[in-house]
Amino acid sequence: MNRFGIALLAVLVLDVFMVPARVGAEPGDRSHQALQARGRNGVVVSVSPEATAAGIEILKAGGNAVDAAIAVGFALAVTFPAAGNLAGGGFMMVYDPQSAQVYTVEYRETAPRAASYERMRGFTARSRGHLSVGVPGTVRGFALAHRRFGSLPWARLLEPAIRLAEEGFQVRAPLARSLNAILQHPEASAEMKRVYGRPDGRPWQAGDRLRLPDLANTLRLLAEHGPDAFYRGPIARLILEEMARGGGLITAEDLAGYRAHIRPPIRVRYRDYEVYGPPPPSSGGIVLGQMLKLVEPYALRKWGRWHPNTLHVMIEAMRRAYLDRARYLGDADFVHVPVRRLLSPGYLKRLSATIDLNRATPSDELGADILTGSESKCTTHFVVADRSGFAVSNTYTLQDSYGSLVVVKGGGFLLNNEMTDFNWTPGRTDRSGNIGTPANRLQPGKRMLSSQTPVIVLRDRKPFLLTGSPGGRTIINTSFQITLGVLEFGMSLRSAVDAPRVHHQWMPDRVLYERAEQLEQLRRALEARGHRLVPVRRIGDAHSAMIDPSSGLFIGEADRRIEGSALAF
Ligand code: DON
Repeated sequence: MNRFGIALLAVLVLDVFMVPARVGAEPGDRSHQALQARGRNGVVVSVSPEATAAGIEILKAGGNAVDAAIAVGFALAVTFPAAGNLAGGGFMMVYDPQSAQVYTVEYRETAPRAASYERMRGFTARSRGHLSVGVPGTVRGFALAHRRFGSLPWARLLEPAIRLAEEGFQVRAPLARSLNAILQHPEASAEMKRVYGRPDGRPWQAGDRLRLPDLANTLRLLAEHGPDAFYRGPIARLILEEMARGGGLITAEDLAGYRAHIRPPIRVRYRDYEVYGPPPPSSGGIVLGQMLKLVEPYALRKWGRWHPNTLHVMIEAMRRAYLDRARYLGDADFVHVPVRRLLSPGYLKRLSATIDLNRATPSDELGADILTGSESKCTTHFVVADRSGFAVSNTYTLQDSYGSLVVVKGGGFLLNNEMTDFNWTPGRTDRSGNIGTPANRLQPGKRMLSSQTPVIVLRDRKPFLLTGSPGGRTIINTSFQITLGVLEFGMSLRSAVDAPRVHHQWMPDRVLYERAEQLEQLRRALEARGHRLVPVRRIGDAHSAMIDPSSGLFIGEADRRIEGSALAF
């Protein structure tokens, strides 16, 4: 049996009996959810059981993984309102079996034409409300993915979401808690309270039903009239009225002018694999690629996954790649991003050689020239793969949980607050994590820098691993650790997803880590090398899948850290 046969056997046999690392797992009603799934025809893994089921419904109706991913995306806009969305943005990685190529459907939001630092005085990286809204990308992104790769009629892909919004769905404990908390937020808009509040004004309880009739109407308009309904038609009008009511900046021209793009992804080779991540305006592909190449020369496999040397080298790679992120990365349509240089073998070899095995390099020592002086939780990642060979890894977001907290009146959907992802301290890069470099400065029409990192790994030119996560700047490190876990250490996907995570982002100069035995045991050794460790409850929520190269079996693994649902057939 080859290595993957063994890994698969381990997944099937060992993982069932193994007690998983409990990293901040939230107790909740999981009876309806499958954490793992195996199947011969296709797999869907997302944060929401209803959305996962929507994807399976579309696969069973003859759709491919891109059709199913779009259906999952629309369904999440109903069942996971903290991050699922119509008026946010993201990145969809697609493996197309016809061309045997990976593409990035990039649908990141843009700054409205009227946006400027002068106009937005007082705005901070924590702002919500109408000014924080970037021109939404999701609907154009899904429409582009459908036009290019889809096979079922567009309207069919919206059916599950329409049904969920119209008939309602059962609220489970995590959603009840999340809604009850956000409805107390001082900036929650009146319309948000009306749409998402329990009709009798009392707190949501697990088992209640949430119906979203305005959203059902919006989805129906999208089904009937396509994406133009959102960017030029009746939905656009509702958005513009909302902007006028709240002093937002988005104009009819901004909406009509929004374009999603198919962009060549970032690709690096790691041992026998090709790892693909999204290009700018995401920092994910470049930073992930750099980290993999920075650790590749070291004897990680020999040391083992939980050896202090391994963790040390991984953290040092994170520190260096995140400094390059701070220094260079932004929207490449507006600023020069030296992509080739940042990923060139010579540069990475030199950078890798600066890692001192005995001592953490203080972040102050690196990047002193730009230095002048926890991420909020919600984005969501899902994956789909099908028997025809398509594979999709998609991350999308409203930025903060529930985005701007503005629900478009009459439209029933939340607007993003992605404008907060621009650099709001121009000229001031500080030790607390604010980045003030020019690459990600606000400019009209520009896309704000993202950390979203949906990943597709190919082996022998075929999809092998699909992963990604929410978590703001921690996203890239979550994707990195899962990818490395499988590719370098031959871990089963289950173990790689469960494995406790660390995060270093250059500044602040500290290592966040998930409290779990494996890392607690390394704590002393890492501190002795000069790392400052800070425990956190959890990092990321990485719904992932693998396709076993020898058997073709689809393996779905939901992340147990929050909620998640894997289905295969
Ligand atoms: O695009 C980005 O990098 C951020 N807007 C993502 C925000 C996020 O992941 C929040 N948390 N889970």
